[in-house]
Amino acid sequence: MKISVIQGPNLNMLGVREQNIYGPMKLEQIHAQMKDFASQNNIEIEFFQSNLEGEIVDKIQECYGEANGIIINPAAYTHTSIAIRDAIAAVAIPTIEVHISNIHRREEFRQKSMIAPVCASSIIGFGPFGYHLSMLGMAQIFNEMQAVKAQQEQKAK
Ligand code: DQA
Repeated sequence: MKISVIQGPNLNMLGVREQNIYGPMKLEQIHAQMKDFASQNNIEIEFFQSNLEGEIVDKIQECYGEANGIIINPAAYTHTSIAIRDAIAAVAIPTIEVHISNIHRREEFRQKSMIAPVCASSIIGFGPFGYHLSMLGMAQIFNEMQAVKAQQEQKAK
């Protein structure tokens, strides 16, 4: 199983930006923890961060035929980007949206996610632990898909 982790704008500033909202953990530390979990669970993982919408769209497209799952925090683009939403819909790879903060408790403009309707799940407000939860969730989605596939193969025999 291969997971692609895609991080949107300003998440490279974690540990510096608004620590009262996002906490002290740096993005590298979050990724190191995800990498540990991945290696313990036989999961291949790659990380990508960009401040540019088009680069995020390109990265999602590159996942087509390559990744079994996408974990994405589109950051501010969550609330604006139809292009990122369309890219997720286009590749049709199971995708989990993560937000460090509880966007529903914040400003009104953050309460709408353009991305959520094309995602398998959204994990919101758990701080950096949400990324760990997203790995567990993705492993579960993958196991369920494998089980369905095995059933179908059994039926076809
Ligand atoms: C965020 C929430 C967004 O509203 C914000 O623009 C971010 C981070 C989060 O992880 O809580 O940059 O996606």
